Amino acid sequence: MSSPNAAVTREQLCKKIDQLPQVDLGHFPTPLEECPRLSEVLGGPRILIKREDCSGLAFGGNKVRQLTFTIGDGVDQGADTIIQGAASQSNHCRQAAAASAKLGLKCYLRLSRDSKSVRQGNVLLDDLAGADVEFVDASMGAELDAIKYALADELREQGLKPHVLAAPRSTALAAVAFSWCIAEIHEQQEAMGIDADWIYAASAGGTQGGLILGTKALGMKLKPFGIAPIGWPDRTERIRIAANDAAAILGLDVAITDDDVRNSDDYVGEDYGSLTPECVDALKLMAQTEGIFLDPSYTSKALSGLIDHIQTGHISSDETVIFLHTGGTPALFAYNEELV
Ligand SMILES: Cc1ncc(COP(=O)(O)O)c(C=O)c1O
Repeated sequence: MSSPNAAVTREQLCKKIDQLPQVDLGHFPTPLEECPRLSEVLGGPRILIKREDCSGLAFGGNKVRQLTFTIGDGVDQGADTIIQGAASQSNHCRQAAAASAKLGLKCYLRLSRDSKSVRQGNVLLDDLAGADVEFVDASMGAELDAIKYALADELREQGLKPHVLAAPRSTALAAVAFSWCIAEIHEQQEAMGIDADWIYAASAGGTQGGLILGTKALGMKLKPFGIAPIGWPDRTERIRIAANDAAAILGLDVAITDDDVRNSDDYVGEDYGSLTPECVDALKLMAQTEGIFLDPSYTSKALSGLIDHIQTGHISSDETVIFLHTGGTPALFAYNEELV
């Protein structure tokens, strides 16, 4: 069923996505499931969950879908080595390590030293997947990117063909990936007879960019709302740029403006990766009503935001909400002491 506001049909969008270089990493489509017990406890809105945590590779998560294109891009250019870096409990790094192993690529991870630089959770899995892991004293962003590019130069001298995963290209391709996720949801909604009002996700980047692009391109009623895991002041601009870059890559005649970007950093707490009482409550509520585990840094904060929006009337009891579970659960094991 095509909307009168659509720039393209679902089939046209999927065809454009299919034409990009990609590698086969995950289990797609991921399920879209009802959360009846969570809905009941929260007093109303029908809540469904899109299970990107079930994307298959290495305990799943939103990066599997994104790496399909970002590593696909590298492989297309002849890469034999992937370089990535982020916070030490990075889900992106763990999924990049596993994707590299699956594809027979070397993987180098440079992790920003922080309070979770322990061989547990994601770092344990990075090691087990055979990545070359080093903790470095550099903050996330430009400093860490400089280390990644310097390492790429070194590896090139050794005869390797490294591919650095970094913004803006990887963020734009991440948004491409989540426009594909929207195409899946579009089809799943049609099959289930649902036309949801909202989709909530933990994001301040490519994931939300893709949700916005996909819903706008297909003219859907579904409105994306991002709950930021980190208090980046320029996140609206980052999301808008990711969405527009993805539109350009896909050749879509869709323009995303700041007005399309709904995102809140009210639920970050003290800092990226620090627990808030509300995120711990949200994590336990999801586990105890639906038997689904969230993560400490992203999805638990996104659910704490959604709960607050329901309790403050931003979402009414007759609306339908999709909660995008972007994964991250292995990080739980590095937070055992704070969570119990
Ligand atoms: C579990 C989880 N959720 C959400 C995100 C945010 O994704 P994006 O950077 O595409 O907004 C990440 C990114 O690392 C993540 O690991």
